[in-house]
Amino acid sequence: MIEGIHLRPVAEEDLPLLNTLHNVGPESASSYAWFGFSDPTQRRRRWAENGMLTTDSGTLIVGSPQETMGCVSWRRTAYGPLNHGWNIGIGLLPEARGRGIGTQAQILLVRYLFAHTQVNRIDAHTDATNVAERRALEKAGFTREGIMRGAQFRNGSFRDMVLYSILRHEVTLG
Ligand SMILES: CC(C)(COP(=O)(O)OP(=O)(O)OC[C@H]1O[C@@H](n2cnc3c(N)ncnc32)[C@H](O)[C@@H]1OP(=O)(O)O)[C@@H](O)C(=O)NCCC(=O)NCCS
Repeated sequence: MIEGIHLRPVAEEDLPLLNTLHNVGPESASSYAWFGFSDPTQRRRRWAENGMLTTDSGTLIVGSPQETMGCVSWRRTAYGPLNHGWNIGIGLLPEARGRGIGTQAQILLVRYLFAHTQVNRIDAHTDATNVAERRALEKAGFTREGIMRGAQFRNGSFRDMVLYSILRHEVTLG
């Protein structure tokens, strides 16, 4: 575990960071998380409305006392009429990548979601060629389930995704 890394709600001063991660270009978003420009006011409106924390989705900032590194997010995935799970995502600023932070942030998010919501399953999918995210998920305890063929349109073509999951009984909550 890397000391001092925590997840916290999005503050107003974090909104430029979210814009950098999602709405500037592939250099800051990374090619794997760049899907073109979107309404630049939309995040501020969501933040003003509910702090980006609802019963169906959420966004938290990944930070340390010294640094703001990126964000994690989740959204509801229905598995039938009786229950749902969460699908999670992550984006770190370029300078925060490759330091173990993505692994740790996803461990913290999984613990947070199992501690504060009643889901049994959390899943994540990433581009089949996104080695950093695949490894980070595996190191965070996720199990690879298979390939989602041609699932995601990004930068001109449909991409295969790898689906991962982690179940409640696989995580020890502190
Ligand atoms: C994907 C991401 C969250 C991973 O977090 P990270 O902090 O960079 O990854 P970590 O430092 O925890 O490393 C996890 C593993 O991936 C490996 N890794 C990290 N960057 C890598 C790279 N560019 N290429 C290959 N492997 C890499 C690490 O070596 C480590 O594996 P190891 O312990 O077996 O050596 C982060 O790189 C990121 O935000 N990327 C851009 C956005 C993105 O791709 N989001 C996911 C979209 S689904």
